Amino acid sequence: MFNRGDRPAISGGTPIRPRERFLVFGAPRFDEDEISAVVEVLRSGWVGTGPRTAEFERAFERYIGSGTGVAVSSCTAALHLAMKVLDLPPDSEVITTPLTFAATANAIIHAGCRPVFADINRSDWNLDPEAVEAAITERTRAVIPVHLHGRPCNIESLAELARRHNLYLIYDAAHAIEAEWEGRKVGCFGDISCYSFYVTKNVTMVEGGILLTQRPELADRLKVLALHGLSKDAWKRFSDEGYRHYQVVDAGFKYNLTDLHAVLGIKQLEKVEKHWKRRQEIWSRYCEALGELPLEMPAPAAPNTRHAYHLFAPLLKTDEIRLTRDELLDALTREGIGVGVHYVTLHLQPFYQERFGCRRGSFPNAEHVSDRTFSLPLSPFLSSEDVDDVTGAMNRLLKWHCR
Ligand SMILES: Cc1ncc(COP(=O)(O)O)c(C=O)c1O
Repeated sequence: MFNRGDRPAISGGTPIRPRERFLVFGAPRFDEDEISAVVEVLRSGWVGTGPRTAEFERAFERYIGSGTGVAVSSCTAALHLAMKVLDLPPDSEVITTPLTFAATANAIIHAGCRPVFADINRSDWNLDPEAVEAAITERTRAVIPVHLHGRPCNIESLAELARRHNLYLIYDAAHAIEAEWEGRKVGCFGDISCYSFYVTKNVTMVEGGILLTQRPELADRLKVLALHGLSKDAWKRFSDEGYRHYQVVDAGFKYNLTDLHAVLGIKQLEKVEKHWKRRQEIWSRYCEALGELPLEMPAPAAPNTRHAYHLFAPLLKTDEIRLTRDELLDALTREGIGVGVHYVTLHLQPFYQERFGCRRGSFPNAEHVSDRTFSLPLSPFLSSEDVDDVTGAMNRLLKWHCR
């Protein structure tokens, strides 16, 4: 089917990129204006939660176009608070996708609830609304869909289902800052959306997150829960408005964002569209250059939606190639190309198997993706040469190992 390529590094050939030029997966890059802004905050004397954090919250609300933002120290913290603020009865069931990062399902457990997995669609790898419906019991109180890799979930079906069954909808939007559904950012939908500003994310502050809620009555309590349960705006107690006592009004958490991180977010948010455009170009280039290889390509954005292009994660057609997915990961690394896996499905992870009796065979679509998925670098800072090295390594490896 294919012409054999030249010898891959793993079989004794010369790596496409030598060790000193290893292409690190998801490496961030900070411009001079971002570095100066951080230094300015360091010099200002106010580095903890303060005016920059509030400024970032307002900037993020404007970018999404609707809702109230509560900035926190990570998306993991955001997911935990989103679950806590709902005050669900103990052992309530919360349905989510198994094809996600551990934080999504762990948050359900930390809130005293039980995660219930439902399978994904084979077409877009997001939670399948029909599978969600089939998993609903009288104990189900909420659903946490994930906009996987930046591709919006079927928001209309999920909203309709949540309405019909009186369920809360919390979106894990860690991958989906720029994603849109029918002309509006995905954060405009559901009760709460949780975003990540971790190192590899489309907007990064190294560590950070935000809850964006469409229910303003939740925002005040979320703020309180994020800072030890201290009365609202307790961070202002040292400001020039005069010392104020705080009150402890809830058993909260230490999840506040700092101004040091927030200032990076403010600067990065100004560049979010420019970076999205570059990732879109790289995505198109990958689709062109890898289209003939034994890969199942990620689904393009559905009509009337916008993909956030957070991760480019094709599936290896393992029946057409003499190479397992894990061998491909090793072989790409040997070529000098950093790779990722997003994700090994949670129902095959030891904790979820031991605690909840999850087994292989329960979610065949998630398993199909989990066994074959791998992510190629998609940073907006990749040069054309970097992209050529990635496509060159992929062509070399998959042609050499074709059946
Ligand atoms: C889907 C998903 N949810 C949640 C998280 C947690 O984000 P954070 O690292 O900001 O806590 C991540 C991080 O990688 C993620 O990919």
